[in-house]
Amino acid sequence: MFVEVHRFREIDSTNLKARELAQRGAPEGTLVVAQSQSAGHGRKGRLWHSGSGGLWMSLVLRPPTIEGLTLMASLAMVRTVAELGVTARIRWPNDVMVGGRKLAGLLAESLLLGDRVEFVVLGVGLNVNNPIEEEIRAIAINLHELTGSPQDVERLRLAYLEHFEELYTRHRAQGARAYIGDVREVCELSGRRVRIETADGVAEGLIRGITDAGSLELEDGAIYHAVERVVPL
Ligand code: BTN
Repeated sequence: MFVEVHRFREIDSTNLKARELAQRGAPEGTLVVAQSQSAGHGRKGRLWHSGSGGLWMSLVLRPPTIEGLTLMASLAMVRTVAELGVTARIRWPNDVMVGGRKLAGLLAESLLLGDRVEFVVLGVGLNVNNPIEEEIRAIAINLHELTGSPQDVERLRLAYLEHFEELYTRHRAQGARAYIGDVREVCELSGRRVRIETADGVAEGLIRGITDAGSLELEDGAIYHAVERVVPL
Protein backbone atom coordinates (compact mmCIF):
# COMPACT_ATOMS: atom_id res chain seq x y z
CA MET A 1 0.00 0.00 0.00
CA PHE A 2 2.82 2.44 0.86
CA VAL A 3 4.55 2.59 -2.49
CA GLU A 4 5.49 6.25 -2.75
CA VAL A 5 7.90 7.27 0.03
CA HIS A 6 9.33 10.79 0.42
CA ARG A 7 12.27 10.88 2.81
CA PHE A 8 13.78 13.95 4.47
CA ARG A 9 16.68 14.38 6.83
CA GLU A 10 15.03 17.50 8.26
CA ILE A 11 11.70 19.10 7.45
CA ASP A 12 9.35 21.58 9.11
CA SER A 13 6.56 19.02 9.51
CA THR A 14 5.81 15.79 7.66
CA ASN A 15 2.10 16.60 8.01
CA LEU A 16 2.56 19.89 6.17
CA LYS A 17 4.50 18.17 3.37
CA ALA A 18 1.97 15.34 3.09
CA ARG A 19 -0.88 17.86 2.92
CA GLU A 20 0.90 19.70 0.11
CA LEU A 21 1.36 16.41 -1.78
CA ALA A 22 -2.27 15.37 -1.17
CA GLN A 23 -3.50 18.71 -2.48
CA ARG A 24 -1.51 18.07 -5.65
CA GLY A 25 -3.26 14.70 -6.04
CA ALA A 26 -0.83 12.28 -4.36
CA PRO A 27 -2.39 8.82 -4.17
CA GLU A 28 -3.50 7.01 -1.06
CA GLY A 29 -0.50 5.39 0.59
CA THR A 30 1.93 8.23 -0.09
CA LEU A 31 4.28 8.42 2.85
CA VAL A 32 6.45 11.27 4.14
CA VAL A 33 9.22 10.34 6.58
CA ALA A 34 11.70 12.64 8.31
CA GLN A 35 14.61 12.12 10.69
CA SER A 36 13.75 15.34 12.48
CA GLN A 37 11.18 18.13 12.30
CA SER A 38 11.71 21.80 13.08
CA ALA A 39 7.99 22.57 13.41
CA GLY A 40 6.34 19.29 14.38
CA HIS A 41 2.85 19.92 15.72
CA GLY A 42 0.18 18.02 17.57
CA ARG A 43 -3.51 18.58 18.09
CA LYS A 44 -4.64 22.17 18.49
CA GLY A 45 -1.35 23.35 16.97
CA ARG A 46 0.61 22.34 20.07
CA LEU A 47 4.36 21.99 19.63
CA TRP A 48 5.51 18.40 19.10
CA HIS A 49 9.16 17.90 20.04
CA SER A 50 10.70 15.88 17.21
CA GLY A 51 14.44 15.68 17.37
CA SER A 52 16.52 13.08 15.65
CA GLY A 53 16.02 9.47 16.77
CA GLY A 54 12.23 9.37 16.79
CA LEU A 55 9.73 8.03 14.28
CA TRP A 56 8.09 10.96 12.51
CA MET A 57 5.97 10.29 9.46
CA SER A 58 2.71 11.15 7.72
CA LEU A 59 0.46 9.06 5.49
CA VAL A 60 -1.85 10.33 2.78
CA LEU A 61 -5.15 8.47 2.97
CA ARG A 62 -8.36 8.69 0.99
CA PRO A 63 -10.79 6.70 3.14
CA PRO A 64 -14.57 6.54 2.70
CA THR A 65 -15.02 7.76 6.30
CA ILE A 66 -12.82 9.34 8.97
CA GLU A 67 -14.90 8.02 11.86
CA GLY A 68 -12.64 6.07 14.23
CA LEU A 69 -9.52 6.64 12.16
CA THR A 70 -7.37 8.25 14.88
CA LEU A 71 -8.28 5.50 17.32
CA MET A 72 -7.47 2.91 14.67
CA ALA A 73 -4.06 4.49 14.11
CA SER A 74 -3.50 4.53 17.89
CA LEU A 75 -4.43 0.84 18.11
CA ALA A 76 -1.85 0.06 15.41
CA MET A 77 0.72 1.83 17.60
CA VAL A 78 -0.26 -0.10 20.73
CA ARG A 79 0.22 -3.34 18.76
CA THR A 80 3.55 -2.18 17.34
CA VAL A 81 5.15 -1.41 20.69
CA ALA A 82 3.64 -4.58 22.21
CA GLU A 83 6.09 -6.48 19.97
CA LEU A 84 8.87 -4.96 22.09
CA GLY A 85 7.13 -6.05 25.28
CA VAL A 86 5.78 -2.56 25.99
CA THR A 87 2.19 -2.39 27.24
CA ALA A 88 0.71 0.91 26.15
CA ARG A 89 -2.82 2.21 26.39
CA ILE A 90 -4.85 4.68 24.35
CA ARG A 91 -5.92 7.89 26.01
CA TRP A 92 -8.85 9.05 23.92
CA PRO A 93 -8.67 10.45 21.34
CA ASN A 94 -5.08 10.22 20.12
CA ASP A 95 -2.49 9.66 22.82
CA VAL A 96 -0.58 6.42 23.35
CA MET A 97 0.45 6.30 26.99
CA VAL A 98 2.66 4.22 29.25
CA GLY A 99 2.45 4.75 33.01
CA GLY A 100 0.77 8.14 32.59
CA ARG A 101 3.45 9.42 30.20
CA LYS A 102 3.03 9.95 26.49
CA LEU A 103 4.92 7.59 24.21
CA ALA A 104 3.26 8.41 20.89
CA GLY A 105 0.73 10.78 19.36
CA LEU A 106 -1.41 10.47 16.25
CA LEU A 107 -2.79 13.42 14.34
CA ALA A 108 -5.42 13.17 11.60
CA GLU A 109 -5.93 16.34 9.56
CA SER A 110 -8.57 16.07 6.90
CA LEU A 111 -9.99 17.97 3.99
CA LEU A 112 -13.71 17.35 3.58
CA LEU A 113 -15.75 18.55 0.64
CA GLY A 114 -19.31 18.45 1.94
CA ASP A 115 -19.75 14.88 3.16
CA ARG A 116 -16.95 13.53 1.03
CA VAL A 117 -13.46 12.94 2.40
CA GLU A 118 -11.04 14.49 -0.07
CA PHE A 119 -8.01 13.28 1.88
CA VAL A 120 -6.69 12.66 5.35
CA VAL A 121 -3.13 13.27 6.42
CA LEU A 122 -2.35 10.95 9.30
CA GLY A 123 0.69 12.02 11.29
CA VAL A 124 2.49 9.50 13.43
CA GLY A 125 4.92 10.54 16.15
CA LEU A 126 6.66 7.89 18.26
CA ASN A 127 9.38 8.70 20.79
CA VAL A 128 12.02 6.06 20.12
CA ASN A 129 15.64 7.10 20.85
CA ASN A 130 15.12 10.87 20.69
CA PRO A 131 16.08 12.43 24.02
CA ILE A 132 13.08 13.73 25.94
CA GLU A 133 13.61 17.39 26.87
CA GLU A 134 13.79 18.25 30.55
CA GLU A 135 10.58 20.32 30.50
CA ILE A 136 8.41 17.44 29.27
CA ARG A 137 10.11 14.56 31.09
CA ALA A 138 7.26 14.23 33.57
CA ILE A 139 4.71 13.77 30.81
CA ALA A 140 6.61 12.04 27.97
CA ILE A 141 8.71 8.92 27.59
CA ASN A 142 10.59 7.09 24.82
CA LEU A 143 11.08 3.45 23.87
CA HIS A 144 14.78 3.52 24.69
CA GLU A 145 13.98 4.23 28.32
CA LEU A 146 11.12 1.73 28.43
CA THR A 147 13.06 -1.17 26.94
CA GLY A 148 16.48 -0.31 28.33
CA SER A 149 18.16 -0.23 24.90
CA PRO A 150 18.12 1.85 21.70
CA GLN A 151 15.56 0.67 19.15
CA ASP A 152 15.65 0.39 15.37
CA VAL A 153 13.48 3.24 14.04
CA GLU A 154 13.25 1.78 10.54
CA ARG A 155 12.07 -1.58 11.83
CA LEU A 156 9.45 0.14 13.95
CA ARG A 157 8.29 2.12 10.95
CA LEU A 158 7.76 -1.06 8.93
CA ALA A 159 6.09 -2.85 11.83
CA TYR A 160 3.74 0.08 12.36
CA LEU A 161 2.80 0.21 8.68
CA GLU A 162 2.01 -3.50 8.71
CA HIS A 163 -0.34 -3.17 11.68
CA PHE A 164 -1.79 -0.02 10.18
CA GLU A 165 -2.48 -1.61 6.81
CA GLU A 166 -4.17 -4.63 8.35
CA LEU A 167 -6.55 -2.41 10.35
CA TYR A 168 -7.03 0.13 7.58
CA THR A 169 -8.17 -2.54 5.13
CA ARG A 170 -10.89 -3.42 7.64
CA HIS A 171 -11.67 0.27 8.19
CA ARG A 172 -12.23 0.74 4.46
CA ALA A 173 -14.52 -2.28 4.26
CA GLN A 174 -16.54 -1.96 7.47
CA GLY A 175 -15.70 1.32 9.21
CA ALA A 176 -14.94 1.67 12.91
CA ARG A 177 -17.08 -1.28 14.02
CA ALA A 178 -14.40 -3.59 12.60
CA TYR A 179 -11.97 -2.71 15.42
CA ILE A 180 -13.73 -0.56 18.03
CA GLY A 181 -14.01 -3.56 20.38
CA ASP A 182 -10.23 -3.98 20.29
CA VAL A 183 -9.80 -0.23 20.90
CA ARG A 184 -12.04 -0.41 24.00
CA GLU A 185 -9.86 -3.13 25.46
CA VAL A 186 -6.78 -0.92 25.42
CA CYS A 187 -8.40 2.41 26.33
CA GLU A 188 -6.99 3.97 29.44
CA LEU A 189 -9.76 5.90 31.06
CA SER A 190 -12.93 3.77 31.12
CA GLY A 191 -14.65 4.21 34.50
CA ARG A 192 -12.34 7.09 35.44
CA ARG A 193 -13.39 10.56 36.45
CA VAL A 194 -12.12 13.21 34.04
CA ARG A 195 -12.29 16.88 33.29
CA ILE A 196 -13.17 17.59 29.68
CA GLU A 197 -12.14 20.89 28.18
CA THR A 198 -13.88 21.88 24.97
CA ALA A 199 -14.12 25.09 22.96
CA ASP A 200 -17.48 25.68 24.74
CA GLY A 201 -16.31 25.17 28.29
CA VAL A 202 -15.32 22.62 30.88
CA ALA A 203 -17.23 19.56 32.12
CA GLU A 204 -16.49 16.80 34.60
CA GLY A 205 -17.78 13.27 34.73
CA LEU A 206 -17.18 9.55 34.74
CA ILE A 207 -16.24 7.97 31.44
CA ARG A 208 -18.69 5.29 30.33
CA GLY A 209 -16.64 4.37 27.29
CA ILE A 210 -16.15 4.79 23.57
CA THR A 211 -19.18 4.72 21.25
CA ASP A 212 -19.30 2.57 18.11
CA ALA A 213 -18.38 5.68 16.12
CA GLY A 214 -15.30 6.32 18.28
CA SER A 215 -16.69 9.22 20.34
CA LEU A 216 -16.26 9.58 24.10
CA GLU A 217 -19.34 8.96 26.24
CA LEU A 218 -19.81 9.99 29.86
CA GLU A 219 -22.04 8.29 32.44
CA ASP A 220 -24.51 11.22 32.19
CA GLY A 221 -25.00 10.39 28.48
CA ALA A 222 -22.98 13.33 27.10
CA ILE A 223 -21.07 12.43 23.95
CA TYR A 224 -17.92 14.23 22.82
CA HIS A 225 -16.45 14.10 19.31
CA ALA A 226 -13.86 16.83 19.55
CA VAL A 227 -12.27 18.21 22.69
CA GLU A 228 -9.33 20.38 23.62
CA ARG A 229 -8.14 18.13 26.40
CA VAL A 230 -9.18 15.21 28.59
CA VAL A 231 -7.59 15.37 32.04
CA PRO A 232 -7.84 12.37 34.40
CA LEU A 233 -8.80 13.48 37.95
C1 BTN B 1 -0.61 14.85 19.28
O1 BTN B 1 -0.25 14.18 20.24
O2 BTN B 1 -1.31 15.87 19.45
C2 BTN B 1 -0.25 14.37 17.90
C3 BTN B 1 1.22 14.42 17.63
C4 BTN B 1 1.56 14.05 16.20
C5 BTN B 1 3.02 14.26 15.86
C6 BTN B 1 3.36 13.78 14.49
S1 BTN B 1 5.10 13.68 14.22
C7 BTN B 1 4.85 13.43 12.51
C8 BTN B 1 3.69 14.33 12.10
N1 BTN B 1 4.16 15.66 11.75
C9 BTN B 1 3.71 16.58 12.60
O3 BTN B 1 3.97 17.81 12.53
N2 BTN B 1 2.92 16.02 13.53
C10 BTN B 1 2.81 14.59 13.33
